Amino acid sequence: MISQNSIQQILSRIDIVEIVGSFVKLKKRGANYLGLCPFHNEKSPSFTVSPGKEIYKCFGCGASGNTISFIMEHEKYSYVEALRWLAQRYQVELEETEVSPELKQYQLMADSLFIINNYAREYFTDTLFNKEEGQNVGLSYFEERGFTEETIKKFQLGYCLNTFDAFAKSALDKGYNLEYLQKTGLVTIRNEQPADNYRGRVIFPIHNQSGKILGFGARILVKSDRAPKYINSPENEIYIKSRVLYGTYFARHAIDKLDECLLVEGYTDVISLHQAGVENVVASSGTSLTQDQLRLIKKYTKNLTILYDGDSAGVKAALRGLDMAIEEGLNVKLVLLPDKEDPDSYVQKIGAEAFREFIKENKQDFVLFKLHLSMQEVGTDSNKKSQLVNEIAETISKIDKAEDFTRQQDYIRQCSQLLHIDEQGLIQLVNKFIRDRLVKREQAQARNNPAPDDDGLSEEAIAAMEAAETGVSVDSLISGHEKQEKELVKILLRFGDKPFSEEENNTVADYIFHLPYDFEALAESDVVKRILREYKVLYDSGNLQDKRWFLYHEDQVLSKQIANILEDREADLSANWKDRFEIDTVYGDNAYLQDTISTTNYLILRKIKKLIFENQEEARKATEMDQIMACLEMQKHLNALEKELTNGMGTVVFK
Ligand code: UTP
Ligand code: MN
Repeated sequence: MISQNSIQQILSRIDIVEIVGSFVKLKKRGANYLGLCPFHNEKSPSFTVSPGKEIYKCFGCGASGNTISFIMEHEKYSYVEALRWLAQRYQVELEETEVSPELKQYQLMADSLFIINNYAREYFTDTLFNKEEGQNVGLSYFEERGFTEETIKKFQLGYCLNTFDAFAKSALDKGYNLEYLQKTGLVTIRNEQPADNYRGRVIFPIHNQSGKILGFGARILVKSDRAPKYINSPENEIYIKSRVLYGTYFARHAIDKLDECLLVEGYTDVISLHQAGVENVVASSGTSLTQDQLRLIKKYTKNLTILYDGDSAGVKAALRGLDMAIEEGLNVKLVLLPDKEDPDSYVQKIGAEAFREFIKENKQDFVLFKLHLSMQEVGTDSNKKSQLVNEIAETISKIDKAEDFTRQQDYIRQCSQLLHIDEQGLIQLVNKFIRDRLVKREQAQARNNPAPDDDGLSEEAIAAMEAAETGVSVDSLISGHEKQEKELVKILLRFGDKPFSEEENNTVADYIFHLPYDFEALAESDVVKRILREYKVLYDSGNLQDKRWFLYHEDQVLSKQIANILEDREADLSANWKDRFEIDTVYGDNAYLQDTISTTNYLILRKIKKLIFENQEEARKATEMDQIMACLEMQKHLNALEKELTNGMGTVVFK
């Protein structure tokens, strides 16, 4: 764990223009800098860096964030890796706080495995190029398959001699620990002797995203019924199959640039395509995709194109993972290769140019492919058909991101045509799945943290359900409320430490936190709640950090949301008054005072309106006289409060 102190030191030195500028050529434009976006292909620059706000934003592809997220995105680093990178750059000595003994143990083990794998990789490459058997058997095999020397070196391919223990001996001589050697799968015990596991096989190292070697695939050279075609490393501390895709290290920049990831089945497919200049490609290594792998892809792109042989078990496996991919928000396409071909054989047969053309021509939508395939199976059986309609509706319902709304509508239209069913009917069915899921989620949440005065669904869920009925995006429905909540966060982060009232000698944060309302409880947005909570902790401990502390928050999702909140001009009340009504507020430069009052009042008023509504409901249901009287009393009180607030706000315009 890196200490808070070190993190603060790094943050205080960050210069976004300098850091981003070392990856992107930037030109000064007014207060900002402009350059070609490194996250998508563009000819004219739309990538801006604002040194004042310490953020970057691309108006072409929408990429945005701060210095740390830039390093994370560009280099595909984790938060901690990005910090380490910056620390090195700024020569900040990192203080590490105590790590738990288990973690230390784990790290030591992982380090050892990486070191052994690296040693083995060097050993096998050396064998391939410099030993007679390596050249005659291994190298000539690769050459026969059409791999150039450049390709072999790039992918660090190797060869393991067909001897009992040449590698094991050499590694043990070097002092590597036998237990660890077994853990990596490089060495096994045979007849009570350490023996080479990959004897007489060519070696494909499997790299992690920063190029370190996680494990190996070792391919047999002759067809055999007795031995498996590939022997792969066993799972261990560093090699966790379900989280790895072969080739990510070599493909990451191309995937980023082209905004598409091609998925193939085998090691050799990745290598051949690279050699042909198709570099945005990774391999699933013959298994169906896991959620972790899908998330790995999503780090780079939303567009996943699967290249499989039409008959392969791979397509069926991929189909099973389709709903999962859609839930992850991926846009999945499929290219079926001609019979008996895999990407490796096919690209070598028809050449790079024709291959690219083939992909372009034959790319089909995976959801529609699934539909076609199932329709063939269903035939005229009406029971099976209604089951299929349900399945398709459920798949479509999983496209629930607001930004993909048109895609969802497209699917509904196309599927209803293909299935010969009424479009409106399909819409309703899809909405039913969305609704069911929302209700389930709500109930699960309520079970986890039951709120006594909560009788079930939140306003958000109800809004979502209503939206599902009408087809209006949920986001736009709830954005009105949310804007005001976010405005409060923005005020705290930007002006929290500024003076509020001279008489009271307090700050904006003092004012907000001393009002008799708990805004964290009033807020509906989880993000807002969370920021308010964290801010309050810092405030209470007298340790108030400025907005940078939040902008560089360890949780990148949160820090992005905060950057967006700080960026959102629309939520900027005073700026809007100026633009829309051409009036300056009486406060001039101190418009934040007006913002503070109107925003807090809005949120309080919203709460009061809710109370009034609930009180009226209660009055309606009441049967006893004194119950009704109590409700009326309450009503008077609430009305007075409401009036006071609205009057106090004078000219404030609610949005
Ligand atoms: P393939 O049989 O298609 O192999 O399996 P390939 O990579 O195309 O190899 P060549 O072209 O025949 O030489 C696809 C992937 O499935 C995994 C490997 O990752 C392989 O690349 N696999 C296959 C295994 O792990 N073990 C096996 O025995 C077979
Ligand atoms: Mn193959």
